Order: sequence, then structure tokens, then C-alpha cells
Amino acid sequence: MERIRIPRIMQETSKKLLYKSKSIGFVPTMGALHEGHLSLIRRARVENNIVVVSIFVNPLQFGPKEDFDAYPRPIDRDIEILQKEQTDILFMPDAALMYAEGFCTFVEVEGLSNKLCGAFRPGHFRGVATVVCKLLNIVKPTNLYLGQKDYQQAMIIKRLCDDLNIDTNVVICRTVREPDGLAMSSRNLYLNEAERKAAVVISKTLTHISDAIIKGRISCTEVPSMMHRLLREEPLVSEVQYAGIFDPHTFEPLTEYKRGNLLAIALKIGTIRLIDNMLVEIK
Ligand code: PAJ
Repeated sequence: MERIRIPRIMQETSKKLLYKSKSIGFVPTMGALHEGHLSLIRRARVENNIVVVSIFVNPLQFGPKEDFDAYPRPIDRDIEILQKEQTDILFMPDAALMYAEGFCTFVEVEGLSNKLCGAFRPGHFRGVATVVCKLLNIVKPTNLYLGQKDYQQAMIIKRLCDDLNIDTNVVICRTVREPDGLAMSSRNLYLNEAERKAAVVISKTLTHISDAIIKGRISCTEVPSMMHRLLREEPLVSEVQYAGIFDPHTFEPLTEYKRGNLLAIALKIGTIRLIDNMLVEIK
């Protein structure tokens, strides 16, 4: 596995690969790799000639009171994992080269960025959209692999590629879960034993409500209050930031079911913020 730290070198490498008609599959990450990341890497491995994974804890997408400094960075372990997964190139850019002095250009995906998580993390999606736009210009992937776990992020990136004519195909991959249903996340590492057990309330609520919708047992307007009630039954839930049913394209709350419906939750267990979602199709 080749390791590249300098954006210009990554760019030149990608240009040469594309010139040789190699397809490039790209998985951007912030490291602390888990099975969720690996599912994206494995899919990229199957569908492309070359697999590029980036590890970059992007300062621009963390708020001043968020966990940028504390974010887990087990780099040796990550490198070992990526080698096992037959990653061709690990792009690990230096922050100083990604955001050189004088950097002042930002990507704002208006409308989509201020809803759901955006309402609680001002500037977060601006940071995500900006770094992903930069990474796409550097890596020039044929296919970009993103997880449904971060559904809003994936839709914002898809929108940004469409709007800015970025010549990359966006592939959204299903959420990988722990055996008890908890969506895998680097932030799960912060949970203590009791909190880890409590966190299952998120996926349980999503599957319970999704079943109730499919079986016609609950009206659309009842969904948010029912979700809040189920989440509040878990004493370790300290704050429910949002829980409800939303349009999967605009993220507006729904009052009537549509064909595609997004159930989405963001909450805190103790001080740890967790998110999850489920798409419910009504036939
Ligand atoms: P990170 O949280 O490391 O996630 C990298 C990718 O893995 C994202 O596309 C995310 O949706 C996906 N992912 C995380 N958990 C998953 C799971 N349980 N199942 C499937 N996919 C999962 O998301 C980011 O990094 C950053 O915001 C980034 C896009 C790299 C920009 O900095």
C-alpha cells in the first residue's frame, strides 16, 4: 500500500491512473476504522481497479466545543487494517497543506445543510462539503463510497457533485450494525459499558417505528411523539436533539407518508452524541 501525504502528489498519481484508464474507488474517512468503513472499502475493492482511502480528521467540520482534539486516531492499527483490505493508496494529508495560509474558499450546500444535524452543529456540513470537494479534486475518483449511517451527509455530497458538475459517481452503502443493532461509529468507542447497552434504544426505536408504519399501525403525525417517548424510556438518554419522520430529499418533517420516508434520530447518551436513521418505503 502506497502512503501519500502531499495533495499535489496524490493528484499527480490519480491523473496517471486515469490516463491508463484505471477506475478509482474512493472512501474518505476520519480513521478509527470499523466494519462500517470496511464495508465501503470492500465494495470499492470489488468495483474498481484502484482503491484510495483517505484518513483526515478535518478540523473544519468540528465546532469549537466538539471533540476534534479527542477524536480517536489509532493510526498504526488503521494502516494494518487497510493493508489487509488490499487498499492500494492511503491518502493522509497534512492539515497545513489542506488548509494553507490564506485559505478562504468554502462550499455551502444551502437548504440541506441547516436541517437535522445542521441545526445542532452550525458550520458542520460546510466543513464536510468543503473538505469533500477538495478531496474529490485531489483524488479524482470514478466512484465515491459513502455510508447511509450519515444519510444527510451523503445526500449533501451527492447534491454538491450534481450542482458543481463533479465527475464522480456517488454510491451510498447500507449501514453496518453491531449484533444488537447499534450502528457502528468511531464515537461508540467513547461509550462506557452502561452507555453502550443504553445506546441500543436508537436502533430499537427505528425498527419498532418502521414495523409499525409498514403494518399500518401508526399515523404519520404520531411518529415523532412515539419516537420521543420510546427514546425517553431509556434513562441514560440525556438529550434528544431530533427524532422524527422526514422527507428523504428535503429533510422537511412529514405530516403524511410518502413513498420514501426517512426516520432519523440524533441524541446524547451522557455527553456522547449519536445519530442513526432508517428509510421506510411504503409500497
Ligand atoms: P467517518 O465518520 O470516518 O466516516 C467515513 C465514511 O464511513 C462515511 O461515508 C460514513 O457514512 C461511513 N460510515 C460510518 N459508519 C458507518 C456504518 N456503520 N455503516 C456504513 N458506513 C458507515 O463521515 C466522515 O468520516 C467525514 O465526515 C468525511 C466524509 C470523511 C469528511 O471529513
